[in-house]
Amino acid sequence: MTHSPHQIIIDTDPGQDDAVAILLALASPEVKVLAITTVAGNVPLALTSANARKVCELAGRPDISVFAGCDRPLKRPLITAENVHGKTGLDGIELPEPQMPLQAQHSVDFIIETLRNAPEKTITICSLGPMTNTAQALLKAPDIAARVKRIVLMGGGFFEGGNITPSAEFNMFVDPDAAKIVFAAGIPLTVIPLDVTHQVLTSKEWVDGLRRMDNQVGPAVAAWTDFFERYDMEKYGSEGAPLHDPCVIGYMIKPELFSGRFINVEIEADSPLTVGAMVADWWNVTGRTANAEYLRDIDRDGFFDLLSERLATYQ
Ligand code: BDR
Ligand code: CA
Repeated sequence: MTHSPHQIIIDTDPGQDDAVAILLALASPEVKVLAITTVAGNVPLALTSANARKVCELAGRPDISVFAGCDRPLKRPLITAENVHGKTGLDGIELPEPQMPLQAQHSVDFIIETLRNAPEKTITICSLGPMTNTAQALLKAPDIAARVKRIVLMGGGFFEGGNITPSAEFNMFVDPDAAKIVFAAGIPLTVIPLDVTHQVLTSKEWVDGLRRMDNQVGPAVAAWTDFFERYDMEKYGSEGAPLHDPCVIGYMIKPELFSGRFINVEIEADSPLTVGAMVADWWNVTGRTANAEYLRDIDRDGFFDLLSERLATYQ
């Protein structure tokens, strides 16, 4: 590798697919994880904060700093997704209670301080859950908008529709007000929507390969995907589990696996029928200013090869 690694903050609500994203990041020299910040989403904050630490310990990385953030969306009650991820958020395999500490500082303050102390445009936020922490940081310290290098986010979906309502994807639906603030902040954005993540469904062969890995991580990821694929199999009749959040880290490592367009993307936060919907002007019919790189396709096989290659590096 000739370039220095991307410095990233992973903002997340683990969740099995968030957990796989963290494991991919911690096994990849192309990224340096500065910290993990947690947010309420798939399950409440106390669980996402414990889960993030369980995953770091599973990875043999208790040195990673984990900060707890917002425990509810900016303006609305929290909606969680135990129906998808199970009661703990990481159902599928029982991991020991984490021994590593949770940092004392709030995620929002950590994000602000870190961006202010680092050289401008050197830090990327990898956003894997509702965007409450980032929006709150922007509200508290608008100066950081000019300091973020990029936000790469899993969220939304346009051609695929939604997964929690007919028009909204979960992360956008839980905190549309936060997403709206982030999309209006002028920060370079890369959106990885359901249009992409519904192309990366696990196959039985791939999961069997993980189960056979001679480490703890492969079988753990296999157990997680076994658990949460049942939801998509029942709902969509699909063959496997969509690995939504690992796509964000996959993009940081190998952007050439993805393709898309630089377009205008807006978030609906008001209409009761379509709240949380992402409106992607793919054909530039509105003339609104482009504000995001919107990804639409992925090299599925390349992505799964990358993931198994990196998960196999764990001891
Ligand atoms: C997103 O919602 C969560 O359930 C997943 O972790 C992912 O971030 C998919 O809609
Ligand atoms: Ca997530």
